[in-house]
Amino acid sequence: MAGAIERFELRHPQGTTPHFYGDGALAAATAELAPMIADRRILAVSSAPIVALHDPLLDPLRAVASAFDLVEVPDGEAAKTPAEAERLWRAWSAFGGRRDALVVAFGGGSVGDLAGFAAGAFLRGVDWLALPTTLLAQVDAAVGGKTAVDLPEAKNSVGLFHHPRAVVADRSVLATLPLGLRRAGLVEALKTGAMLDLGLFERIERDLDRALGGDLEALAAVAAGAARAKARLVESDPEEAGARKLLNFGHTLGHAIEAEAGYGRVAHGDAVAHGMRFALALSVALGGDADFAARVGAALDRLAPPPLPALEAARLLERTGRDKKARRGGLGWVLLDGPGRGAWDRQVPSERIVAEIDRFLRAAGERPL
Ligand SMILES: NC(=O)c1ccc[n+]([C@@H]2O[C@H](COP(=O)([O-])OP(=O)(O)OC[C@H]3O[C@@H](n4cnc5c(N)ncnc54)[C@H](O)[C@@H]3O)[C@@H](O)[C@H]2O)c1
Repeated sequence: MAGAIERFELRHPQGTTPHFYGDGALAAATAELAPMIADRRILAVSSAPIVALHDPLLDPLRAVASAFDLVEVPDGEAAKTPAEAERLWRAWSAFGGRRDALVVAFGGGSVGDLAGFAAGAFLRGVDWLALPTTLLAQVDAAVGGKTAVDLPEAKNSVGLFHHPRAVVADRSVLATLPLGLRRAGLVEALKTGAMLDLGLFERIERDLDRALGGDLEALAAVAAGAARAKARLVESDPEEAGARKLLNFGHTLGHAIEAEAGYGRVAHGDAVAHGMRFALALSVALGGDADFAARVGAALDRLAPPPLPALEAARLLERTGRDKKARRGGLGWVLLDGPGRGAWDRQVPSERIVAEIDRFLRAAGERPL
C-alpha cells in the first residue's frame, strides 16, 4: 500500500529512538525530525554503489541541514576497519564537524556499523541517524544500537553501544536488492519470528515466496515486523546480558562456517541459514519441539541457500570456541524449545556437539536442493 508508514519507538538507556518503516519513510521522518536536524551539519556516510542507486533519497535531508558532506567508504564488509573509522574522523574534522553535527549512515549493516561506531567515538559521541538500505540492516543491524568495526583477528571486535537518534527504513531501497541480499534478510527475519513472535513467523511463512521474489510490499512488511519484534527484545535487555542472546540463534555455527570456509566464500546470510539448520537439529536432539523445528527448517529450505562446502566437524567446533560470545567456562548455545520459546547459555558437552555437527554435515551433504 503506497504511503503506509509504520512508526514505533525503542526506549533504551540513552533515550528513545523512533523507527520509521515503509513507503516514503524518509520524507515522513524528515518532516517529524526537521526541528532536530535544522541548522546542523550533516556528515553522511555511504558507499559508491549505494549512492549511485539511491542518492536522491537524501534530498529531504539536504534541504533541512545547514551543510551536507558525504564521505564514501569501501563497499560491504571492507568498510568495517579501524583505518576507515580514522579516515572518517579526519574528514569530519576537516569539514569543521563539531559536537552538534549529525552523522547519517546510508547503506547496509556495514556502513551502519562503521558510521555508528565512528559517531560514537568522535568528540566523545555525536548523534547519528541510521538509513538502512538492505533488508538485513532494516530487519536487524540498524535496530538496537550495536556498532563495531573488525580486526583481522575477529569480526566486530571493537565497538560500542551507540543508539541512533532515529532509524528510517525506506521501502524503495529494497527494489534494487539482488536475490542473495533478500535471502540474507529473510533468514534473520525468520529467526526473529521463530524465536520471538509467532504471528511474524506465520506471516513470513505465508509471504516467503513473494518476498524472496522481490515483492516490495511483502519485503517491507517483513522488515517492519521483524524490526519491531527486535526492538521489544532490546528494550528488555539493551546490553545483551540475557534474552537478547536469543537473536544469536544459528550464529554460533554460522560464524564458524563463514570463518572456516574463508570469508567471502559462504555469504553471511547463507552461513547463518546453515547455522540455524544445525541449531534446530541440536534443539530437537536436546528435547525441543520437533514439529516446530521441522516447520522452521521447511521455511529455510524454501529460501534455498547454496550448499555448504566440505567442512570438518572438529575444526568447526574449534572455531565456535573462538567466537567472541564464548565465555570462560564454556560456550553457551542458543536453542529453540518450541514456538516463540528459546533458551540461551545452554551448556552442551563438546563431544555431543562434535557428534551433532558431524551428523548435520552428513545430512547437509545428502539434502536435495
Ligand atoms: N549492529 C548489529 O546489530 C548488526 C546485526 C546484524 C549484522 N550486522 C553487520 O551487518 C553487516 C552486513 O550488512 P548487510 O548484509 O546489510 O551488507 P553490507 O552492508 O555489507 O552490504 C552488502 C552489499 O549490499 C549492497 N547494497 C546495499 N544496499 C543496497 C540496495 N538497496 N540495493 C542493492 N545493493 C545494496 C552494498 O553495496 C554491498 O555491496 C555485517 O558486517 C554484520 O556484522 C550488524
